Amino acid sequence: MRSSILLSFAALATAVPTPQFPGLPLGLLNILPKYFENAASGSCSLNQVTLPTSALPAPDAGLTLALVAVGRGTQNYTCASSTSADKPTPNGALANLFNASCLASYSNANDLAMYTRYKEGKPKTQQGQYPLPLIGEHYFVDSTTPSFFLNVLGATELKKNATAPAPNATADVAWLKLEVQQAGTTSTVQNVYRVNTVAGQPPATCDGLQSTFTVEYAADYYFYSS
Ligand SMILES: *[C@@H]1O[C@H](CO)[C@@H](O)[C@H](O)[C@H]1NC(C)=O
Ligand SMILES: *[C@@H]1O[C@H](CO)[C@@H](O)[C@H](O)[C@H]1NC(C)=O
Ligand SMILES: *[C@@H]1O[C@H](CO)[C@@H](O)[C@H](O)[C@H]1NC(C)=O
Ligand SMILES: *[C@@H]1O[C@H](CO)[C@@H](O)[C@H](O)[C@H]1NC(C)=O
Repeated sequence: MRSSILLSFAALATAVPTPQFPGLPLGLLNILPKYFENAASGSCSLNQVTLPTSALPAPDAGLTLALVAVGRGTQNYTCASSTSADKPTPNGALANLFNASCLASYSNANDLAMYTRYKEGKPKTQQGQYPLPLIGEHYFVDSTTPSFFLNVLGATELKKNATAPAPNATADVAWLKLEVQQAGTTSTVQNVYRVNTVAGQPPATCDGLQSTFTVEYAADYYFYSS
């Protein structure tokens, strides 16, 4: 079964480089041939792609989905003490952004979420294991201002607009809608959503923890622009 999928994958992908995917779930191996076929032909329209949740407010009127990216990095936290009397406080994040528009353009939200879950267990940089191009970085300019720098689209600084707990909220950071703020923004991006989160939640208390620490995570980011 596995070898026949690998064979058909190799046959379809002859025109483009064929990276290796150690440990990739079988369901994902099934969709990769289509990914390479679409990427090679440039048919990666986002017209049919919708946000994979109705638990957050819809994108603002008149916006268009411009990019779907997988983020892979850390959520950062601080602790006032190393005792159970204190709880970890969010303190920004740092993540690499990988272009998942083509993957999102033909796969369903579950396929993309499966890829994101796979990616959480992998290094934060490409290192030959990721088929998706590295296109930018997510970081914080201050504790309440997430920023996304994308090589093609420019910089977008935002504020949190709405949150919804992840399906597994003890392990996975919340799903978010972020709204642009004009200061620091050079792109036409207006809304950014964080969904399909994998990990990133801190321990329940600061017991035994250092004053600053990080928790590995992955998530899908949907960028809507004017
Ligand atoms: C978050 O942690 C990363 C390490 O993953 C570090 O490089 C970055 O500076 C930290 N950001 C903040 C705001 O503390
Ligand atoms: C992401 O990939 C799509 C499909 O290959 C491409 O059209 C688009 O320009 C890329 N976007 C960015 C921001 O790199
Ligand atoms: C969220 O965004 C909507 C639409 O722009 C706005 O009406 C609302 O006040 C915002 N809510 C918060 C909490 O920022
Ligand atoms: C939530 O995630 C944790 C860590 O991955 C896992 O151990 C647990 O089984 C998950 N719970 C549910 C209900 O999926």
